[in-house]
Amino acid sequence: MEIIVRTMEATDYQAVYQLWQDCNLVLGTSDTEDEIVKFINQNPQTSLVLLKNKQLIGSVLGGFDGRRGLVHHLAISENYRKAGYGRLLFEKLEDEFTKMGVVKISFWVHKSNLQVIDFYQKIGCELREDIITMSKTLRE
Ligand SMILES: CC(C)(COP(=O)(O)OP(=O)(O)OC[C@H]1O[C@@H](n2cnc3c(N)ncnc32)[C@H](O)[C@@H]1OP(=O)(O)O)[C@@H](O)C(=O)NCCC(=O)NCCS
Repeated sequence: MEIIVRTMEATDYQAVYQLWQDCNLVLGTSDTEDEIVKFINQNPQTSLVLLKNKQLIGSVLGGFDGRRGLVHHLAISENYRKAGYGRLLFEKLEDEFTKMGVVKISFWVHKSNLQVIDFYQKIGCELREDIITMSKTLRE
């Protein structure tokens, strides 16, 4: 059994998009091929995929804004869950962020997906109940 974590390439797009759909991630205008390739190019060391026997079964997008490490789209294919791959991928991302000098990682959990909070707490993340997210759309 061969497990590889490597940086995401533009040519992974179809497979990662399929994975995100299969995992019921909330997808939008930032998830088109152009937008994801732009993200990968801007964050080459922290956009990662996990392959098992050459099959893409996991992904995570990490972005560094100069202050925080932001995490998007951590996903492991349903057939391969609860085997430690989500933790492995998140820890690889932590290693990359640490090399860049990141102090803290942040991310959002959609209210339709509250069941993943237990997972995140198991891998050392803290639930913040003191923060409300706000946003402004600049481009439709
Ligand atoms: C969340 C997700 C990435 C976890 O991946 P995974 O490979 O199953 O997680 P791991 O096997 O590494 O689990 C690490 C620990 O969390 C636990 N865990 C994993 N999923 C859990 C869940 N849904 N509820 C409670 N505990 C969970 C594991 O049992 C393990 O615990 P242990 O350390 O005591 O053994 C995966 O369930 C997934 O892809 N979900 C759909 C996409 C998604 O919602 N992503 C998050 C977007 S914010």
